[in-house]
Amino acid sequence: MFDKELVVAREAARAAGRILSRMLGNAHHIVKKGEIDLVTEADLAAEKIILEIVGHNFPKDNILSEEAGRRDEASHRTWLIDPLDGTTNFAHRFPFFAVSIALEIESEVVLGVVYNPYMNEFFEASKGKGTYLNGELLRVSGTTTLQESLLATGFPYDVHERSEGVLKLLEKMIVRAQGIRRLGSAALDLCYVAVGRLDGFWEESLKPWDTGAGDIIVREAGGRLTTFWGEPYNPYLGSVVASNGLIHDEMVKVLGISAVS
Ligand code: IPD
Ligand code: CA
Ligand code: CA
Repeated sequence: MFDKELVVAREAARAAGRILSRMLGNAHHIVKKGEIDLVTEADLAAEKIILEIVGHNFPKDNILSEEAGRRDEASHRTWLIDPLDGTTNFAHRFPFFAVSIALEIESEVVLGVVYNPYMNEFFEASKGKGTYLNGELLRVSGTTTLQESLLATGFPYDVHERSEGVLKLLEKMIVRAQGIRRLGSAALDLCYVAVGRLDGFWEESLKPWDTGAGDIIVREAGGRLTTFWGEPYNPYLGSVVASNGLIHDEMVKVLGISAVS
C-alpha cells in the first residue's frame, strides 16, 4: 500500500533537497511574511519542484503547501508539503533544515518523508511499515523519566506578542528535564524523537505541513503524539507533544495544566 506514493514523495524530497543544498550560502532575497516569519527564494524554488512532481503524479489529490496554499480537488487525500522547514536557520546558514512531505487521508497521515540534505539524512515512514533513516529501521529511546530526558521545543512566529505563556511552559519543563534544545525545524525535531536523539518535543501553533510527516515518523518508530491535553493528535490540531511514549504522561501533566492557549 502507498508504494507509488512513497516513491514519488522520495523523488520530490530529494529534488527539493538538491535545490536547497545548491542555494545554501548564496545571498538570499528574503521576504518577511510577519515580523519574524520569513520566506526566501529557496522556499519557493523547492516548493515549485515538489508541486510539479507530486501534482503531475497525483492530479486528483488535494495539496496543502506552505507557500502556494491549497489545491482543492475535492479528494479525501491531501499532500502536506513544507518545502523548507527551518527557513530562519537556512537564511542564517545554520545547517538544520529539511524538506517535509506527507500524505493524509481523512486526517490520518499514511506516509511521510523528511530530508535534511545538509546532513544527508532521509527519514521516512508509511503506515504499518516502520520508520527508516537512510534505510535503517528506527526505534524511539528507552528513557523513562523526564529528569533523564533531552527535550526540544519551538516558539511560534507570534512569540513577541505572547511570550509570557510560551516562557511559562519553557520554565516548567526546564526545571524538570535533563536538557532542552531549540533547534528550529519542527519536522526534524520530530524525526529526532523517532531516532532517539531526543526523548520528547512540544510546540504550539504549528501548521499541518510542519508536523504531517513527523507525525507518522514518530508513531511508526514506536513513539506517541497528543495535544498538550493528552487528546489524540492529528496535524490540523496546532499544539503537539511527541515523545518516546514512556515520558509522555509526565510531559502532558506539565504542559496540559499550565498551557494558556
Ligand atoms: C518553522 C520551524 C520552527 C518552528 C516554527 C515553524 P518554517 O517552520 O518548524 O522550528 O518553531 O513554528 O513555523 O517557517 O521554518 O517552515
Ligand atoms: Ca515549517
Ligand atoms: Ca517552511
